[in-house]
Amino acid sequence: MTSAAYLSHLFSLDGRVAVVTGGSSGIGRAITGALARAGASVVVVARGKAQLAETVDELVAGGCRAAWVSGDLSTRDGIRAAADEAAGVFGEPDILVNCAGVNLRPPMGELGEDVWDATMTLNLEAPFLLGQRFGPGMAERGYGRIIHITSQQAHRAFVQSGAYGVSKGALESLARSQAEAWSPHGVTCNTLVPGFVMTPLNARLSSDERKVAALAERTLVGRNGLAEDFAGAAVFLAGPSSAYVTGQSVFVDGGFSVH
Ligand SMILES: NC(=O)c1ccc[n+]([C@@H]2O[C@H](COP(=O)([O-])OP(=O)(O)OC[C@H]3O[C@@H](n4cnc5c(N)ncnc54)[C@H](OP(=O)(O)O)[C@@H]3O)[C@@H](O)[C@H]2O)c1
Repeated sequence: MTSAAYLSHLFSLDGRVAVVTGGSSGIGRAITGALARAGASVVVVARGKAQLAETVDELVAGGCRAAWVSGDLSTRDGIRAAADEAAGVFGEPDILVNCAGVNLRPPMGELGEDVWDATMTLNLEAPFLLGQRFGPGMAERGYGRIIHITSQQAHRAFVQSGAYGVSKGALESLARSQAEAWSPHGVTCNTLVPGFVMTPLNARLSSDERKVAALAERTLVGRNGLAEDFAGAAVFLAGPSSAYVTGQSVFVDGGFSVH
């Protein structure tokens, strides 16, 4: 077997269909590119059409198979509609990546029901409902990969974690529940856990050079995360060679969590 054939046997996503929420920016965009370049047909779901089109056009121009669905995952109806539309493009997905997320940071004492609801719906309920929509089909077909993007705030409080930390902690529990339900049928469910990653999500914090340097120092690698750091881990968790990895939280954080 040549090395190319061996690598393909371990990691190729040829013939697989993936849906990536939040795949038009930051970590989700990097994961979308990685899955598509590894051979999957990828449907990107987010709201903004210009960024969706830019993301997909770049991949298609590079010879990948990708498409986008503009959908708002901030309501149950929006989540269901986006799921149906996404499955209509290349068929029912084998890989689901839940990356769309929101981080609103009012002080705990001022955290109202509106922020709570908005956070829980996008960060937790969308992954749950998309799992309910696609998980059983994956189990029936005998292959599936569900990947949630959580946060170090699933494990510790950090800069007013508020509702955000709660949603991410619950998302890791959701991965374990899904893993328990569907792993016997070839469907693994895991989370990728970022530390601090320089993306538009934390543009405010990223623009404070002193804070950025202090956060980099808290890692073991000595720098903050980049969206591209998630490419390899996502391909691994989406592909055939991770069949025996399930219910896990995989930290991609430069050692932030163990320092
Ligand atoms: N950056 C970090 O340091 C960090 C750390 C820990 C965890 N994370 C997690 O990593 C994930 C990605 O974060 P990121 O930093 O890459 O964020 P980002 O660059 O801001 O991207 C967020 C993505 O989610 C989409 N989105 C937002 N609201 C949506 C909605 N209501 N419906 C559908 N799509 C929506 C956005 O597109 P539209 O706005 O066009 O809809 C965009 O594609 C999030 O779950 C975040 O919690 C990030």
